Amino acid sequence: MNAFKLPFSEFETQRLRLLRYTSRFAQDAFLWYSDEEVMKWAGPDTHKSIDNTLLFIKTITKANSDGKMIYWAVHDKQSKKVIGDISLYPDMKHRFASAGTFLMKTFWRQGIMTEAMQPVLWFAFNKLLLHRVEAQVFSEHIASIKLYEKLGFKKEGLLRQNFLINGTFCNSIMYSLLKDEFIPKCKWTELY
Ligand SMILES: CC(C)(COP(=O)(O)OP(=O)(O)OC[C@H]1O[C@@H](n2cnc3c(N)ncnc32)[C@H](O)[C@@H]1OP(=O)(O)O)[C@@H](O)C(=O)NCCC(=O)NCCS
Repeated sequence: MNAFKLPFSEFETQRLRLLRYTSRFAQDAFLWYSDEEVMKWAGPDTHKSIDNTLLFIKTITKANSDGKMIYWAVHDKQSKKVIGDISLYPDMKHRFASAGTFLMKTFWRQGIMTEAMQPVLWFAFNKLLLHRVEAQVFSEHIASIKLYEKLGFKKEGLLRQNFLINGTFCNSIMYSLLKDEFIPKCKWTELY
């Protein structure tokens, strides 16, 4: 267990709230964790029942209190639903974190993740005091590549066939953003 307790903040942007995950969000989260298209390029297996989502939330809540990771539920103010999530897996020794993002399909390509990632990157660099945030994306996953490029991440290189997806070894690309390179694209409020 990591003895270091990670800080946490909730945030509000123009359209969104970034909230601490609780089991109350399971019904909403199941909608994208059970969607084959959303999960196509993802690490975790597609959820088959709400029990998978409840177990997942229990696991990440524990990992969060053990100081291993941070998860935000992305809440849409207009629909009052949780529509996605963002994770950071920090390595506090080397002061970097790996980022992950999921968004319900009906909200794709509306700038939601670009907006939601702004306070997350600020938090990573200014509260976790990280030097680098990285993201490993599959080389054919255009949406993810475009997202990280829009966020200012730099392409570092190709990792050859390092993920097994549906029986095929796939290449991925390492992207990273350093603290000094982060240029916020919108405003947000820290809720606590
Ligand atoms: C990756 C993902 C989070 C992107 O979220 P999003 O809110 O749709 O992204 P944004 O709307 O903020 O778009 C960011 C940029 O990427 C572009 N983009 C997003 N999806 C795209 C697509 N399918 N094809 C081409 N460009 C795309 C947008 O046009 C935008 O660039 P622009 O403003 O210059 O036009 C979303 O597609 C998703 O949840 N996918 C499934 C889960 C997943 O694979 N997660 C990543 C695991 S590595």
